[in-house]
Amino acid sequence: METSNRNRIITLDEFILKQQKEYTSSTGELTNLLRDIGVAAKIINREVNKAGLVNILGVAGAENESGDTVQKLDIYANDKLIECLGNSGECAAIASEELENFVALPPVAKKKPKYVVVFDPLDGSSNIDVNVSVGTIFSIYRRISDPAGPITIDDFLQPGTSLVAAGYVLYGTSTILVYTTGHGVNGFTLDPSIGEFCISHRDIKIPEDGAYYAVNQGYYLKFDLEMRRYIDHCSDMNFGLRYIGSMVSDIHRIMIQGGIFLYPHTRKYPKGKLRLLYECNPMAMIVEQAGGIAITCNLERILDLPVNDLHQRATISIGSPKMVSEMKAFVEKYSAVKS
Ligand code: AHG
Ligand code: MN
Ligand code: MN
Repeated sequence: METSNRNRIITLDEFILKQQKEYTSSTGELTNLLRDIGVAAKIINREVNKAGLVNILGVAGAENESGDTVQKLDIYANDKLIECLGNSGECAAIASEELENFVALPPVAKKKPKYVVVFDPLDGSSNIDVNVSVGTIFSIYRRISDPAGPITIDDFLQPGTSLVAAGYVLYGTSTILVYTTGHGVNGFTLDPSIGEFCISHRDIKIPEDGAYYAVNQGYYLKFDLEMRRYIDHCSDMNFGLRYIGSMVSDIHRIMIQGGIFLYPHTRKYPKGKLRLLYECNPMAMIVEQAGGIAITCNLERILDLPVNDLHQRATISIGSPKMVSEMKAFVEKYSAVKS
């Protein structure tokens, strides 16, 4: 009798291995790297889940490079990612939202690693103390400096179009890891009973249009006229406003249900608040791979932006193609009115 394997569990490790063989003359390096990130995600997940039980909640008493208050779990997640990325020896160096400079990792067994990894270890960390979803964002670039020499800043200051892979982990009602290596986007939900990420969302396609918008409406009066007009339009259309304060959570909802996420510039953040390297580029790659659009509020494609600084900020408008295109039309119309 033939047995159907339609319901067979496919773990993240198995999927990565298969996909790498399918699309690349895989040497296993990227596979190892993604596996290291998967392990870090499980450890961070464990800590996030028990955050209410141990003395790890709250502010660590410092500000990070971008001037935000650092939460204890930010530091924990940052350290775990660095530790796990040191496991396979495939990561030459890392840069993190929580660190001023990039850090070269010690070599493992004479390996000459080809990749560098950048991450926002905990996104939406102000949500931790109130038991609301947080995330991790990561991205992988191919090292461009001479492998015989030291890692240089240029290995990190690469545009989003050079990304090899990007992904996020959402620690929500369940924990999901979503990633792309440029061949579509797949999602894996953590099954706590077996401790494995298992495929749950194959080839995610963002809905063409949506009826939700995500923006910090509290800053409405600080936005430019064109952005205010677009937000008025969303309200006129009776679109639902959803804003979690964690970009990962807001964009994950949009990936599944459709919608638009906006973080325009304000007086406090004249260049936008979100970081190009750690937040905007990886989320832009994922959303574009799912069929969406990611542009700045000045209408430049996020992935094409030159990266000049590890902690550079950008404005962002990202999500369902129809909604982002409509936002673009408002900006074109109302900036013309101003000039
Ligand atoms: P982080 O916790 O990594 O600093 O990121 C928080 C970011 C982003 O995830 C979120 O969308 C945004 O900041 C919220 O900012 P506001 O509170 O200004 O709306
Ligand atoms: Mn963040
Ligand atoms: Mn963060």
